[in-house]
Amino acid sequence: MAARRADADLRAILTGGGPAGQEKRKNRTRKKSIRDCPAVANRVELCKAEDVAPGTALRVEAGGVTVAVFNLDGEFYVTDDACTHGPGSLSEGFVDGDVIECNFHNGQFNIKTGEVVSPPCMIPVRTYPARVEGGTVVIEVD
Ligand code: FES
Repeated sequence: MAARRADADLRAILTGGGPAGQEKRKNRTRKKSIRDCPAVANRVELCKAEDVAPGTALRVEAGGVTVAVFNLDGEFYVTDDACTHGPGSLSEGFVDGDVIECNFHNGQFNIKTGEVVSPPCMIPVRTYPARVEGGTVVIEVD
């Protein structure tokens, strides 16, 4: 009987089923992959709303992003500043309604959606939902 129990204990130890193995399993279940954690967005203050005149754009570097802040009749929109086609800076482009024309090759994007309006651009530009808090334009960045 004692020999059978010793065999069982030995087998448990060898297969990780003994007390040490149980502790290892407990520790394993406590670990959490970073992929299990929900993405935390960072609130980024970009500029004062009054710094962007209606129908214009302002280039802002903040919170690890470089973006173009657009004022369309008092509503604020934010896109990446870099054109997806090349070295153009969208904040230096030409605003026409809700369209921004890149200053480099005249490709166009919809400021509100980032969709391409006119070639040579083929890839939409990233947009960020923007809001004004206490006179400051704010976005959330992943
Ligand atoms: S760099 Fe913007 S259209 Fe070419």
